[in-house]
Amino acid sequence: ARLKVREALEARELPGADVKVQGWVRSVRSQKEVLFLHLNDGSSLESLQVVADPSLEYRDLTFGSAVEVQGKLLKSLHQKQNVELKAENIRVVGPCDALMFPFKLREKHPLEYTRQFPHLRCRTNTLRSLLRVRSEATAAIHSFFQTANKVKEHEGESHFFKVPAFLTVSGQLHLEVMAGAFTQVFTFGPTFRAENSQSRRHLAEFYMVEAEVSFTESLQDIMQVIEDLFKTATSTVLSRCPHEVEFFYKYIAPAQKGRLERMLKNKFLTLSYTEAVEILKRAPQTFTFKPEWGQDLQTEHEKYLVTHCGEVPVFVIDYPYDLKPFYMRDNDDGPQHTVAAVDLLVPEVGELCGGSLREERLHFLQSRLQRLGLSDTYQWYLDLRKFGSVPHGGFGMGFERYLQCILGVSNIKDVMPFPRFPHSCLL
Ligand code: 4AD
Ligand code: MG
Repeated sequence: ARLKVREALEARELPGADVKVQGWVRSVRSQKEVLFLHLNDGSSLESLQVVADPSLEYRDLTFGSAVEVQGKLLKSLHQKQNVELKAENIRVVGPCDALMFPFKLREKHPLEYTRQFPHLRCRTNTLRSLLRVRSEATAAIHSFFQTANKVKEHEGESHFFKVPAFLTVSGQLHLEVMAGAFTQVFTFGPTFRAENSQSRRHLAEFYMVEAEVSFTESLQDIMQVIEDLFKTATSTVLSRCPHEVEFFYKYIAPAQKGRLERMLKNKFLTLSYTEAVEILKRAPQTFTFKPEWGQDLQTEHEKYLVTHCGEVPVFVIDYPYDLKPFYMRDNDDGPQHTVAAVDLLVPEVGELCGGSLREERLHFLQSRLQRLGLSDTYQWYLDLRKFGSVPHGGFGMGFERYLQCILGVSNIKDVMPFPRFPHSCLL
């Protein structure tokens, strides 16, 4: 039978099952009596140990080569493994020049080094772990919206409806159209920004999860969906791929385990923008950008606020009217004029989510668009406020930043297989 490495490792019918396993060599060690080989095919983080007779000359059997091993599955005498494969025949499918191959046996390669080889780095344990987490997180987010999460409403409970994403900087306005017919909608797809930034948290192409909820007058409802999404999806990921997540804790971000537990255990905090600015002004440290009411919060400010909050995620709400886009709902609150906006700040990345209540009142929206000279462009958007307008709100969560946050990865380029950013055309 042809088995995946995972199937071989989990095989019950031992000993002596006749099997064939294919994969890439993770390690080779030749001893007097026996040749040890570790084989991985991506089906599991753990590799399968192969034992072979060293008297057979296995040419080209080097780290990184692709091989096919045929033999018998036996109970392993080693404590670390249940099973090993006693090779009867080993065929090198594709040799690998160990001198030229950028990754070396038993060497720990820094992420900055690995990043130079986007076409080969998927062979590393780090990228393989990452991609499994990415895949499980994608599934967990879909399942959160489609089944697990049931937002409590007066009438009972209802699910989110998935709508397609388009080539865009944000699906929000389209999502609002859909929320005007399906009540609760979400989308999850690639998003494009002309970011001229080499920061550790910006990409030109990233994935965004966006949700929009109709019949809500409270920003708290939106914040609740964000918190539930974060906690539910993360718990699912932790239970679906514990070894891959552990790999990150062990080799990439040792402090991350406690930090993530803290994020999951504690209720997220809330600060108003005004309170946040007060906290920043009282901070003992000096910032490159002086905190000032009316100015945007910079990454350094966001990071300080998260630390100030004990590394528990914190919602910052009610931002200055003049800082935010036209669609955010006017709080109509006097001299320090604000809108019902929310950003979620988390350790490692700062801003993870951005959202708001949307301005559903026709006259507010009309006069704001007029002042901005955008009335013609957004005639269709105004229509939504003329025909059955409802109070609603939503948010967007950057998926790569989410992965950075749960795994403790400091550079966003390491949570995507082929990151696109300015001046990069590696692949
Ligand atoms: O804060 P942003 O720009 O919000 C919007 O686009 C809203 N229209 C979303 C909505 O309400 N439906 O983006 C949302 C999130 C940010 O908080 C951040 O996590 C992520 O998307 N993001 C980026 N991630 C990686 N690279 C970039 N260049 C990003 N820009 C935003
Ligand atoms: Mg934002």
